[in-house]
Amino acid sequence: MKQGDYAKSRLLGPSYIYHYTNELLQVSQEAYMEFFSENALGRNAFPSVAQLEGEVIEMGIGLLGGGPAAGGTFTSGGTESIFLALKTAREWARKEKGIDRPKIVMAVSGHASVDKSAGYLGMDVVRTALREDFRADIGLLEAAIDERTCMLYASAPGYPHGVFDPIEEIGAFARKHGLWLHVDACVGGFLAPFVREIGYPIPPFDLSVPGVSSLSADLHKYGFAAKGASLLLLADRENQKYQRFEFSNWPRGSFLSHTFQGSRAAGPIASAWAVMNTLGHAGYREIARVIMDTKERLIAGVEQIK
Ligand SMILES: Cc1ncc(COP(=O)(O)O)c(C=O)c1O
Repeated sequence: MKQGDYAKSRLLGPSYIYHYTNELLQVSQEAYMEFFSENALGRNAFPSVAQLEGEVIEMGIGLLGGGPAAGGTFTSGGTESIFLALKTAREWARKEKGIDRPKIVMAVSGHASVDKSAGYLGMDVVRTALREDFRADIGLLEAAIDERTCMLYASAPGYPHGVFDPIEEIGAFARKHGLWLHVDACVGGFLAPFVREIGYPIPPFDLSVPGVSSLSADLHKYGFAAKGASLLLLADRENQKYQRFEFSNWPRGSFLSHTFQGSRAAGPIASAWAVMNTLGHAGYREIARVIMDTKERLIAGVEQIK
């Protein structure tokens, strides 16, 4: 699609392109180009990038229910956020529960990147059937748990059906069994809070729900940032010790990183910062309104078809 074509549709997507206005696109592109050459791996070399990244993470934590203990990481996308959540839970399970090859239990609707990541990480995944309303079935999750299970995974919402798993119930259940709970809010993280703000009922789903250990939210989806932008948030940043990679057996000195990537593009960080500060809550609320109006028009149209 040529750039000019965007003007025909004010809001385009999902799922590959998230476009609001050409003005916002320009803000994103200019910020990206401003930081085209920097490397976000070099926090000391590029303090401005570190500052922008820190501010984006703080905005994410504030929006998504994180308390004073919460921490976060800017990643390249939903898949990397999910990969890092699994890696963190795996190390936690190995160190704190003595489980060598941990297992993840989730509903079939959870994103494919869980199995992709579990393959890389030497973890196993058990997927359970859905309730009739396409949400995770607690009874089936419970039946699938065994002594190797370390993690539950819930979607907010799941990509196939666009509905939220019962995250409060799953959180209570995670606490009861001492399990890590990851909430995949890659789609909902930067949309659902604003849909709630304009008056639609959204079930509790974020870090404020007891039992939620980590949450992924994609800035390059409904955050409207350039691609290569997502957040992995932890309810307790102490657990970053299980996320980080440290290596000191190297002539160059010690190496420390919280992401899968080593060198990281700074453009998506700058884009996310600029887009978030340009839109603010009011801008994201307006986008939520356009999306919900469109949804209602679609439903009304479908209902008119005989
Ligand atoms: C619910 C959900 N989680 C994770 C992902 C993976 O995100 P990405 O494609 O940015 O890696 C997607 C992508 O559509 C998604 O819909």
